[in-house]
Amino acid sequence: MNIFNKKDDFSQAVSDLKLAGKTIGFVPTMGALHEGHLSLIRRCKAENDVCVASIFVNPTQFNNVSDLQTYPRNLQQDTDLLNAAGCDLVFAPTEEEIYTEKEKEQPFVYDFEGLDKVMEGKFRPGHFNGVVQIVSKLFTLARPNRAYFGEKDFQQVAIICQMVHKLDFPVEIVSCPIKREESGLAMSSRNELLSGEERKKATNISKVLKESVTFAAQFAPTKLAAWITQQINATDGLETEYCEIVDGNTLQSISDWNETDYVVCCVTVFCGKVRLIDNIVYNHKL
Ligand code: PAJ
Repeated sequence: MNIFNKKDDFSQAVSDLKLAGKTIGFVPTMGALHEGHLSLIRRCKAENDVCVASIFVNPTQFNNVSDLQTYPRNLQQDTDLLNAAGCDLVFAPTEEEIYTEKEKEQPFVYDFEGLDKVMEGKFRPGHFNGVVQIVSKLFTLARPNRAYFGEKDFQQVAIICQMVHKLDFPVEIVSCPIKREESGLAMSSRNELLSGEERKKATNISKVLKESVTFAAQFAPTKLAAWITQQINATDGLETEYCEIVDGNTLQSISDWNETDYVVCCVTVFCGKVRLIDNIVYNHKL
């Protein structure tokens, strides 16, 4: 596995592979890799000639300084895991390699046509501008045929699909299912920041979501969202930031199950200081 820190070397290596007729699959990450990331890597490897990953904790998508500072970093362990999962090429640049001083100071502005006004976008202003800023740069350098994103970050997948469409990137976006721990907890780099006790409590998030599926249609979506919020908050130490039941295509909240046949419940929950997200898809035809 080859590791590149410089963007020119990285894009040259990709160009050589493309000239040789290889298809490129790409998995962008912020490191602190776990089985969720590795499931994307394995699928990428299976579906393309070459599997490329990036590791870059992107400062412009953090709207909270302490979140950026405490974000777990372990490059050596990450590259070992990528190597073992069959990744061929890794791009792990420094901040200076990616951003000019001006880019770091001035917020990148992108028109999401409303997709960023809800859920994560509403509670993390500027977050998706940073995501589009870095992913568009990485796509330009990696020029992948396919790029792999996890459904855990449900809104991120929708935004990347919109970006690819609007900016005409010739890349197929492959969205991949959420990997969970045995307890049901959605795998996340932030889980590393949880104490043992908190990790146990956090399993209630997916338990409540799963349970809600069994009787979802009996309640109006807003009532169901209120029930989920209340059930999660009933665990001491869990505090729901938002719980939205949305049309999976438009990300807008629904008030009636018949509004769409693609219904997703997205939640963000603070477990102590750690912000966790999860979601569940309800049966398309309830
Ligand atoms: P990061 O949080 O490192 O996630 C990298 C990719 O792994 C994302 O597509 C994410 O959805 C996916 N992923 C994380 N946990 C997962 C799980 N439990 N199951 C399946 N997939 C999972 O998302 C980012 O980084 C950044 O925003 C990035 C796209 C790299 C831009 O900086």
